[in-house]
Amino acid sequence: MSPLLKTVLEAGGLGLSRKAHPWELTADTFFTGSEAFRASAAQLLDGSPDCVAIVSSASYGMATAARNLPVQRGQSILVLDEQFPSNYYIWQRLAAERGAALKVVPWPENDDWTAAVLDRLTDEVAIAALPNVQWSSGGRLDLVRIGRACRKLGAGLALDLTQSLGAFPFSVREVDPDFAVAAGYKWLMGPYTTGLLYVAPRWHDGIPLEENWIQRANARNFSSLILYTPEYECGARRFDMGERANFALLPAAGRAIEQILTWGVAEISETCGALTRQLVTAVTEFGFSSLSEKLRAPHYLCLRRKSGIPPDFTNLLAHERIFISVRGNSARVTPHVYNCADDVERLITCLRRIAGT
Ligand SMILES: Cc1ncc(COP(=O)(O)O)c(C=O)c1O
Repeated sequence: MSPLLKTVLEAGGLGLSRKAHPWELTADTFFTGSEAFRASAAQLLDGSPDCVAIVSSASYGMATAARNLPVQRGQSILVLDEQFPSNYYIWQRLAAERGAALKVVPWPENDDWTAAVLDRLTDEVAIAALPNVQWSSGGRLDLVRIGRACRKLGAGLALDLTQSLGAFPFSVREVDPDFAVAAGYKWLMGPYTTGLLYVAPRWHDGIPLEENWIQRANARNFSSLILYTPEYECGARRFDMGERANFALLPAAGRAIEQILTWGVAEISETCGALTRQLVTAVTEFGFSSLSEKLRAPHYLCLRRKSGIPPDFTNLLAHERIFISVRGNSARVTPHVYNCADDVERLITCLRRIAGT
């Protein structure tokens, strides 16, 4: 979970305080903030604001994808081994409901997740539900090649970009997924319960998870909301969650994305990559290993050790004010632009001590 920048806190504080005098909120404010967020999110995705829906979480976005992507008895839904639960349970349920199979790509012996996925993208796959970065190895997936393979097969592609968007370059124009979601509180550096969902134009007539007033074409005229209309707002807006206007959190989430765009995703990726490279180079000497640089995401380093990660590992490090997580059998190190080479040196010193060398 990334820390909030001071400017993001400020935007959130100002947003929250608007509710202290709600009579100053005009009908327009229910739309302008949402559209500003959509525009920034679109820039990050390299797509159009019309293709962005505002959602609460990765699971919300994935549930939207599952509501719309077709799958039949005898077909399968492809997921990765040790994939994050918000991109697993919904597909497990859909497969059970439709008499389809959940096909799990096993951890590849050569650590090449892209090749492992491409191998298993066979005729019966109806949906590939994937991340850009495998959760417990940091292995990166070449989504351009996978997207191409899905289109060739006629399979749907639903992506959970929560652990990559904002820190690893991505383009909907190049990948062409059907749906792609990212929760906002990690690499998008926003508050909790804010997220974005890309919906490809071919699904803009799809069925949203909720039916709420603000998704509808007559929403701007508050006095006639009960003149019920079957028409939705254009593009992906029909997939927006209820209360998406969110005066408190949305300005903060938007401010964070603007900062990421100012820094540049490629630059963030390179900065994080230099730090994880520095770490790996030093710690292999005392028994830690990771996927090779060419197979892993630069910003998301998972370290393993033959003898395992000691149970008190994160506590020992937290004592030194170093905060990393253990996920599966890996220690996950996810630096950002607020980290520097000295931080990595401190971590190396601690890991050397823990490894007893
Ligand atoms: C890969 C991935 N997806 C999604 C999430 C968050 O899911 P949700 O927004 O459904 O809580 C996380 C949180 O750790 C994650 O690592």
